[in-house]
Amino acid sequence: MTALKRPWTKYPYFEEDTSAEVVLARMGAATDPRLAEVMTSAIKHLHAFVKEVRPTHEEWLTAIKFLTETGHMCSDWRQEYILLSDTLGVTMLVDAINHSHGDGATENTILGPFYVENPPHRENGANICLDGKGEPLTVQGRVVDTAGNPIAGATVDAWQTNDDGFYDVQQKGVQPDMNLRGIFTTDAKGRFSFRSVKPRYYPIPFDGPVGKLLGAMQRGPNRAAHIHFIVKAQGFETVITHVFPPDCPYLELDAVFGVKETLIGDFRQTGTPSAPEWQLDWDFTLAPSR
Ligand code: BEZ
Ligand code: FE
Repeated sequence: MTALKRPWTKYPYFEEDTSAEVVLARMGAATDPRLAEVMTSAIKHLHAFVKEVRPTHEEWLTAIKFLTETGHMCSDWRQEYILLSDTLGVTMLVDAINHSHGDGATENTILGPFYVENPPHRENGANICLDGKGEPLTVQGRVVDTAGNPIAGATVDAWQTNDDGFYDVQQKGVQPDMNLRGIFTTDAKGRFSFRSVKPRYYPIPFDGPVGKLLGAMQRGPNRAAHIHFIVKAQGFETVITHVFPPDCPYLELDAVFGVKETLIGDFRQTGTPSAPEWQLDWDFTLAPSR
């Protein structure tokens, strides 16, 4: 079929029945093909959504105001649109689409907004907890390939909240800079280790429009307790992931859907009831670069 020379002439005026076609007919023939594909789908789904929901003018204005407030909440330290994507499950969906399962590698999960570039490199065994709060935890393990061979020289970049449930960057001047952050390099046997504190669950920032929306939907703001990791090695796919303690009450209610069963670690009690201490043995598996 030959394309119409002036496609908009088929849909010259707006009508409810053909609303998406009317808009799409105006798209120029030389539009970048991927942009055309994305916008065609976005416009079709948006019109179908509005036809299904049939908002009043007032409701549509509420939606516009929500998006406006979301934009106003964004700064160098706060990305409310990413939080919106996270809480609607879209961040995890994009990650699932872009990371193949079943290659034997450690599964990915959400990066989150509190990663800091260039954290300090620390010696294996070092303590990343600089504020002395929390129940001591030793993390040790190996980075291996999918055949189980150790990967020497891999980097294990770890970060987490303090025992009050805040990242250092959320409490500048309160917590020491680079509290609970560090990069460790694996030895010849692929081993890494560090000391920290047992992570606790904490709320995502909920003082903005996304928090209000969660509240209105009767959803909680808590993230299941976790330690974040980025594991990298030359010639391998990078893994961005977390490890979760199994006793966290929010594993199945994580506000951003970041929990995967394979990422729940065996945090073992090594202390006493009056002086709890913990140990996590955890190996990361990397797949070869694609
Ligand atoms: C986090 O784990 O740091 C996080 C992830 C998504 C939204 C907010 C926080
Ligand atoms: Fe986190």
